[in-house]
Amino acid sequence: MPILDRIFTAQGSPNIAFVKYWGKRDERLILPYNSSISMTLDHAVLRTVTSVMLSEALDEDVFYLGGKPQDLGDRELKERMQILEILRKAAGSDARMLIASHNHFPTASGMASSASGIATLVYAANAALQAGLNAESMSIIARQGSGSACRSMLGGIVMWRKGTRADGSDSYAQQLFAEDYWPEVVDNIVVVSQSKKKVSSRAGMKQTADTNPLFRSRPESAEARARNLIEAYKNRDMGKLAQIIMAESNEMHALMLSTVPSIRYLNTASYALMDAVEQLNMSVGETICGYTFDAGPNANIITTQEHQPKVSKMLKEFLEDGSVQYVKTSKVGSGPKMLDDPHAALITKDMVKEHIG
Ligand code: ADP
Ligand code: DP6
Repeated sequence: MPILDRIFTAQGSPNIAFVKYWGKRDERLILPYNSSISMTLDHAVLRTVTSVMLSEALDEDVFYLGGKPQDLGDRELKERMQILEILRKAAGSDARMLIASHNHFPTASGMASSASGIATLVYAANAALQAGLNAESMSIIARQGSGSACRSMLGGIVMWRKGTRADGSDSYAQQLFAEDYWPEVVDNIVVVSQSKKKVSSRAGMKQTADTNPLFRSRPESAEARARNLIEAYKNRDMGKLAQIIMAESNEMHALMLSTVPSIRYLNTASYALMDAVEQLNMSVGETICGYTFDAGPNANIITTQEHQPKVSKMLKEFLEDGSVQYVKTSKVGSGPKMLDDPHAALITKDMVKEHIG
């Protein structure tokens, strides 16, 4: 039974894709052409907090993001928030939701706020609705809000299995390696820009899949890389892992570049960072770190604690010359969790008064 008039608060985090999702075989259900793999980030570094309250006094769902009411009639948000209907159906409830969420990092600037936000919302709503869904089922719902969100439903290294069924019931996320399997892994989130991207991931991947003839070879190539990446991670082999993620990032950005009209997310600072990573690896005489970029110019530089001082030194120069705004360093993180402390709740008395009375 859904619990009415009580606030449920959850915390979750974004993920960075090692093997990328870029292209949907079904746009409505959000089904990808290939499986993808990511690292869930540490809540202590990047996190979303979301509170959900169910009430019979609400006529419609209400959503606050960063303290501001959002227009759920807006096309993009409406598409994403169809997950609320799916959640209600799964729980056999028609209770409306008052939702308040906050991303403790920039929203809509290529740092995966959609993944973190949607996964955290599904987790909090599952608790409020007492839906009793497991991580796999929650990932199927999160996937329909934003594909990459399904991978933030779990901690560690996570694979979104593409599945083959037309209804998407076998397209879900599964943990490949727990967060403590290789705790020495470090992700340097290198922020070179915080502006909103010109082409959304959703529009960009559609354009690539629809128009780029090179895309035909992409699913096979991504699946092969996923197999190699699993092997490298299993062997805790940073040299191989770094090479795979760099090749993977370059392949996705080459596909974007060769789409007509061309889509370009990387900027001068991104290319300078790619050069610096390659030079560092060359100077050490082995691959100690690797870069990867999602749909934006900000880099994620993966290494191990052993080599982190060298990477930090390299990044310091970028920070000093101003081409990098800031760097956040994350270890492998856990999946979403409930926050029981009532002080963590984001639904204020004023919100309740305004919408519930
Ligand atoms: P990003 O790179 O940050 O994921 P996108 O443009 O892909 O940027 O996604 C941003 C969108 O994700 C927002 O406009 C909003 O619709 C949704 N979103 C962001 N944060 C949250 C959140 N905390 N809860 C629910 N949805 C969110
Ligand atoms: C480049 O998951 O944001 O980050 O499913 O349309 O919401 P929608 O797209 P989204 O795309 C993420 C693309 C990527 C690669 C990845 O995370 O795998």
